[in-house]
Amino acid sequence: MSSLAETGAARFRALLPHPEPEVDLATAYAYPAVLDRPWLRANMIASADGGAWGRTGHSGDLSSAGDRRAMSVLRGLCDVVLAGAGTARIEGYRPVRAREVWGQLRAGRSATPPIAVVSRTLDLNPSLLSQAPEDARTIVLTTESAPQERRRHAARDADVVVAGEETVRPELIMSALAERGLLRVLTEGGPHLLAELTSAGLLDELCLTVSPHLAGPEPARIVAGDAPSHTQDMALAHVLESEGTLFLRYTRAREN
Ligand SMILES: NC(=O)c1ccc[n+]([C@@H]2O[C@H](COP(=O)([O-])OP(=O)(O)OC[C@H]3O[C@@H](n4cnc5c(N)ncnc54)[C@H](OP(=O)(O)O)[C@@H]3O)[C@@H](O)[C@H]2O)c1
Repeated sequence: MSSLAETGAARFRALLPHPEPEVDLATAYAYPAVLDRPWLRANMIASADGGAWGRTGHSGDLSSAGDRRAMSVLRGLCDVVLAGAGTARIEGYRPVRAREVWGQLRAGRSATPPIAVVSRTLDLNPSLLSQAPEDARTIVLTTESAPQERRRHAARDADVVVAGEETVRPELIMSALAERGLLRVLTEGGPHLLAELTSAGLLDELCLTVSPHLAGPEPARIVAGDAPSHTQDMALAHVLESEGTLFLRYTRAREN
């Protein structure tokens, strides 16, 4: 089945749970059909030796046509893209652009998912806030301690949510998104934000692209920073492959 007009793009085959010569990504990555609480999925990429970025300090150094296609489908499926301000700054985040390949994926929803960005400093690219469409305004999750003038400025264009005093509390991120009806949450990191989300026990699913590169010891792993150390068992839901890149999907193990 091909619910997307995925012509001319990188092809994916399934290795697990059952070998399949061709995979429809929207089906493989469908969120649970019924949700009564937010479902937090992370989409991250790592080099074969575990690095979260490559030579230039960008995760894009590790990317590929297949990774970009998977990322696009994951964005099409979600209700909101959640990112830390470090990622938004370094990766030059802008409001999400609508993709023809999404087809009917977003029927009944805004044409694009909003970006929700987490920041203390509110040092954000103005176009991330000002260029978002009215039905997918950027959501800024920040703290009481954030600079007041920047907060007022952000509130002109964006939906500003104060979700903590000195630090944004991960559980308040999820409740603020749920209050807006945004249950299918896709976080794209970065490593600091992902560590906080996992240490709060919020991660339901990890979509991990393993890129066929060695990045050396310098880059962080996909979790980094001062969040309390957290361990959690995950269950392997699928392994896909496209042109030497692996796409692993893990879900929270039942006993967690
Ligand atoms: N491999 C991958 O899949 C992947 C994915 C994303 C990013 N990256 C790479 O990771 C690097 C960026 O890493 P990073 O860990 O610094 O990114 P990050 O987690 O996106 O950003 C950290 C920033 O997010 C804000 N933040 C995070 N948690 C917060 C909280 N609880 N309360 C308030 N603000 C909070 C702060 O922003 P303020 O400083 O504005 O206060 C903090 O400095 C880049 O090189 C990027 O290319 C890799």
